[in-house]
Amino acid sequence: MNIIFLGPPGAGKGTQAQLICQKLGIPQISTGDMLRAAITNGTQTGLEAKAYMDAGQLVPDAVVIAIVKERLQAEDCKDGYILDGFPRTVEQAKALSEIADIHAVVNIAVSDESLVRRLSGRLVCPVCGAPYRTDRLGGETKCAVDGATLIQRDDDKPETVLGRLQVYHQKTAPLIDFYQREGLLRNVDGAQDQESVTGAILTVLEADR
Ligand code: AP5
Ligand code: MG
Ligand code: ZN
Repeated sequence: MNIIFLGPPGAGKGTQAQLICQKLGIPQISTGDMLRAAITNGTQTGLEAKAYMDAGQLVPDAVVIAIVKERLQAEDCKDGYILDGFPRTVEQAKALSEIADIHAVVNIAVSDESLVRRLSGRLVCPVCGAPYRTDRLGGETKCAVDGATLIQRDDDKPETVLGRLQVYHQKTAPLIDFYQREGLLRNVDGAQDQESVTGAILTVLEADR
């Protein structure tokens, strides 16, 4: 299955995509993770993306569409994938519909208030991108997967978080209607605890198999 995870920043797209990709044996394609890796590696794409990301703005459509087009051609995508954080504009959604057959769009909904709280309490692994919660780490400072020291993302500062939410409402939320009209939208309440959200996503996807 080719699946999209749609939702505001902090909704739990990355958390849930990682779990569900493991379960289904398909790759997680996170444009955010790919762009952060490009910045770390100092590539041309990374240079183009950095200023936008630091400011909490969207990276230009052409840049992101090119990355996704290339990624979807890889061998590991032939049995399905989860797109985490793409598409994020109507322009991107239209470009995607020309290169991929999407089976379901999971819309993970969470209130703005909880999102601000979640993002300011998030640490991430700089190596594998896994997200952690400071309230659950109990003083642990390393990634459970690879032992790397966890860091705070530059765009998780409170002032940038509010800007990202604004960008979401303006540019990305219209995709809810877009995919609703295509009959692909599956709504999930992302305010529940993590385990319940995973269960709810598996339930809506099961109905499509
Ligand atoms: P990206 O990396 O995609 O960031 P985002 O969409 O802002 O989303 P996040 O990664 O912040 O949140 P998430 O939904 O993955 O939540 P998570 O699971 O971590 O994009 C970053 C930037 O890259 C963009 O601003 C843009 O500049 C650029 N970019 C990327 N894609 C682009 C595109 N397509 N077009 C243009 N530009 C693009 O969870 C958040 C926290 O909450 C974690 O701490 C987690 O542990 C916790 N949590 C998760 N689930 C729960 C739960 N149920 N209850 C309580 N806490 C929870
Ligand atoms: Mg993410
Ligand atoms: Zn890690």
